[in-house]
Amino acid sequence: MNSTRFKLGKYTNTLTSGSASWSSPSNIALVKYWGKKEHQIPENPSISFTLDACKTITEIKFEKREGDQSTFSFEVFLDDMPKPDFHPKIETFFNRIEAYLPFLKEFHFTIHTQNTFPHSSGIASSASGMSALALCLMSIEKQLNPKLSDSDFIQKASFLARLGSGSACRSLEGDLVVWGAHPEIEGSNDLFGVKYPYKVHDNFKNYQDTILLVDKGEKQVSSTIGHNLMHGHPFAKQRFDQAVGNISKIKNILESGDLEAFIALVESEALTLHAMMMTSMPYFILMKPNTLEIINKIWSFRQETGLPISFTLDAGANVHVLYPEKDADQILEFIKSQLVAYCQNGHYICDKIGFGAKQS
Ligand code: DP6
Repeated sequence: MNSTRFKLGKYTNTLTSGSASWSSPSNIALVKYWGKKEHQIPENPSISFTLDACKTITEIKFEKREGDQSTFSFEVFLDDMPKPDFHPKIETFFNRIEAYLPFLKEFHFTIHTQNTFPHSSGIASSASGMSALALCLMSIEKQLNPKLSDSDFIQKASFLARLGSGSACRSLEGDLVVWGAHPEIEGSNDLFGVKYPYKVHDNFKNYQDTILLVDKGEKQVSSTIGHNLMHGHPFAKQRFDQAVGNISKIKNILESGDLEAFIALVESEALTLHAMMMTSMPYFILMKPNTLEIINKIWSFRQETGLPISFTLDAGANVHVLYPEKDADQILEFIKSQLVAYCQNGHYICDKIGFGAKQS
C-alpha cells in the first residue's frame, strides 16, 4: 500500500470558518509496538484493546487567514487554559501531515482539548489526543470534500494519527485494532490501523482493564527515544519476529477463548517490552518497585484462586489489570483490598474495552 492515495486532488467546496469536534479513546496493546522505521512505520505488527473511559475530547474552530500563509497558525487550550508547551508537538505533527492536508496553512485553528483522565496520571494521552486531533482535521477535510467515503475517512484519519503518534492509529475504532502488516490478518498494513476482522470469543467481550496508577510523574525516557534504541539493539530481530508469531497465536486465542494462553501471551509481551528497555544501550528501567509488588500479588492471587486475572504494561510504571467481565466482582474486591495500596495516592481507573472514537 502506498501513502500517495491519501493525497487528494482539488477540494470541491470552499470554507471561511467552521468547527469540528471528536472524542477519542486511549488503547492498550496486547502485542506491543516497540521499534519503528522512518515515517512512523512500525518494525512489527501490534494489536490493542480500545479503551472506553480514558479519552480525549477535542474541538477545533477554524477561520480563513488573510495575508502571509507561510507558517501554521494555531493556538491550543487544555481545560480552557492556554497550553504553549503543546505547540512544538502539534507543529511537528502539522509538518508531517501537511502534504496530505493542503488546507492546513489556509486557516487559523483554535484547538480546545480535555482528557477524561487526570492530566498528570502517567497515562499516555498521545494515543487519544493525536487520534482526536486527526479526526477533527479529517472532519474539516470532509467539509471541503463531502464526497469522501466513510471508509476513506477513517483510514486516512488513522493514517494521520499514526504520523502524530504510532499507537494513536489504533484508537479510532474498537474493540480490537491491528496495526502493521501481518500475513494472517486480512487488510493489515503499516500505514493505518484496521479493525480486527475475525471472530472473537465471548470471554473477551467487555473485557475489563483497571489501570493502577503507580507513578504519575513524567517518564525519564520518552517512547520516541525508546523506539529509537531498538536500532542496533542486540535482540531487535528476535523481538520483531516474536511479535509476528504472537499475532498469529493471539488470533487463535481470540477465537478459542483460551484465557490461560491469553494470560501467558499478554504478560510475556509486557515483560518483553520492558526487557527490551533494560537491554537497550543506554539501558533504562521504567517499572518501579510497586510495579513488581503488584505483579507478584497478581500471580499469587491467580495461583490461589484460579481466576483469570492478568496484567500488561505500557511504556511506564502503571499496571493495566485485565480480566473478564464475569469475574469482575471478585477481582475488583482483590484490587481494592490488596493492590490499591501500591498506587500513588491510592489512584486507579476502572476501564474496559470500548468501541472507538465518536463525533460530538
Ligand atoms: C509501549 O505510540 O507512544 O505503548 O510513535 O513515538 O509516539 P510514538 O510512540 P508511541 O509508543 C507506544 C509504545 C507502547 C506499545 C504500544 O502501544 O503498542
